[in-house]
Amino acid sequence: VETQVGIVGAGPAGLMLSHLLYKAGIDSVVVEKRSHDEIANTHRAGILEAGTVKMLVESGVDGRVLTEGHEHEGTTLRFEGVSHRIDFQKLVGESVWLYPQNEVFVDLAAARKRDGGDVRYEVTDTQIVDLTSEQPKILCTSADGEDLEIRCRILIGADGSKGISKRQIPEDIRTDNSIEYPFAWFGILCEAPASAPELIYANSEHGFALISQRSDTVQRMYFQCDPNENVDDWDDERIWAELQRRIDGPDGLQLQRGKIFDKTVLPFRSYVCEPLRYGNMFLVGDAGHTVPPTGAKGLNLAFCDVRVLAPAIIDFFDKGDESGLAEYSAKALERIWKAQNFSYWATNLMHIQPGENPFNQKRRRGEFAAITGSERGSAYFAESYTGWPDN
Ligand code: DHB
Repeated sequence: VETQVGIVGAGPAGLMLSHLLYKAGIDSVVVEKRSHDEIANTHRAGILEAGTVKMLVESGVDGRVLTEGHEHEGTTLRFEGVSHRIDFQKLVGESVWLYPQNEVFVDLAAARKRDGGDVRYEVTDTQIVDLTSEQPKILCTSADGEDLEIRCRILIGADGSKGISKRQIPEDIRTDNSIEYPFAWFGILCEAPASAPELIYANSEHGFALISQRSDTVQRMYFQCDPNENVDDWDDERIWAELQRRIDGPDGLQLQRGKIFDKTVLPFRSYVCEPLRYGNMFLVGDAGHTVPPTGAKGLNLAFCDVRVLAPAIIDFFDKGDESGLAEYSAKALERIWKAQNFSYWATNLMHIQPGENPFNQKRRRGEFAAITGSERGSAYFAESYTGWPDN
């Protein structure tokens, strides 16, 4: 198979890039080891920055995000039982959209299908070779057992945090920047009405909890847990008691309970691969960097990478101009490190470290007051959360 751009990974980053290239008349082939339905049914975060929504709508992927998603003009930060609203619109004139990220995948996959895109799911034994040559290749076996060799000019690693692509960058060129956290999130989906009109990010002496939503009848919630927590040790009763005690406060806020139908433990890690280019291979999204979930930056950041890389690839094929490709890694990394900082900062602002010095929670109280008690502090949070303008 010959194509201009070979893409490993049909998550949101790979498919959005393939879609934008198609619109510019550049062809690509996408290979993916999972099935369409497996990706569609993997629950991810639910918050889209305005820039992400704009990309979906303006590039003609789908307007479903506008009709089925919900615009949120603010969010609540709750510290030791006391709520403070951060008004995004008033502070920075932006909103975010509540729209499940697996639905973003569904919309992108449908758009690629509609436009005749070549996306091959359920491939196995994927390898990428000749990355520093002018004809990098993806080798894999198709779902029906046929050996494939995809020859391209530019190869994209969009294969997520556990992908093969970044590991092809030799160790003397690659720097793996990462930190671990001594906690994880226990995520649930339940059948219940919303407990509040907007999201609630709650810190308490018992740890962090996030009260999010999916629809009028389905809610998404998380609480900080041990990374080795076993979901089978938690029945509904125990989960509700744990969530409730993390939001208890003098205002008497009560969670609306209902049947819990999905329970998962989400790992926590911060990771950045530098550089994001090796020869004619470019990394986008989680293949190049991972953020902890606090603040829901993962998919939004993947789309930011694509906003930098797509025009660079288009200039390369249309005008032979390689400058955008040369600048991609450094330019994308500027935003990535800003988002890494926000995700790390928001995580440490809201979580309790097991066995930490009590000094820390008192210091956090001061930090919360500095954010929520000041228009400038709140605006810092609002700007970071809704997403900085592109530079
Ligand atoms: C959701 C997840 C997040 O990590 C976050 O910061 C906000 C919302 C969610 O799944 O709804």
